[in-house]
Amino acid sequence: MATNRTFTMIKPDAVENGHTGAILEKINAAGFRIVAMKKTHMTKRDAETFYAIHKERPFFGELVEFMTGGPIVAAILEKENAVEDFRTLIGATNPAEAAEGTIRKLYATSIGENAVHGSDSNENAEIEGNFHFAGREMF
Ligand code: RTP
Ligand code: MG
Repeated sequence: MATNRTFTMIKPDAVENGHTGAILEKINAAGFRIVAMKKTHMTKRDAETFYAIHKERPFFGELVEFMTGGPIVAAILEKENAVEDFRTLIGATNPAEAAEGTIRKLYATSIGENAVHGSDSNENAEIEGNFHFAGREMF
């Protein structure tokens, strides 16, 4: 399998609850290389743009409010089969359904406040990484 990239955010709940270090440890232990990383705070416009695909969903307003409620840690990660392996590492959207040992099982509190984001395709990984980082910030 080709080495490729995914994009992640440690969401405001996990940052606020002090789980950033533990989550980065899990990411590191799973064999991902950090290509780019920063702590930032999304504006309403940022969140509406980033999650535009969900704009017709009933939870869209809640999602934008949550994602703009505090700082996040954004990162681009590299590994063989990155997108799929990262989705496995984070677990199901709803932590109640997430497998034991996954990041969401360990650190998420609810389906809405679920600790981490992971891209769902190679195409979206590239779009999302480019949304948060300039080429000169990727190494
Ligand atoms: P993500 O994009 O953040 O990695 O999450 P995901 O693929 O597992 O889930 P997705 O369907 O893309 O939903 C994006 C985020 O919206 C919030 N959500 N809330 N209240 C609800 O029913 C609900 N459903 C989704 C979550 O924060 C979810 O991660
Ligand atoms: Mg998603």
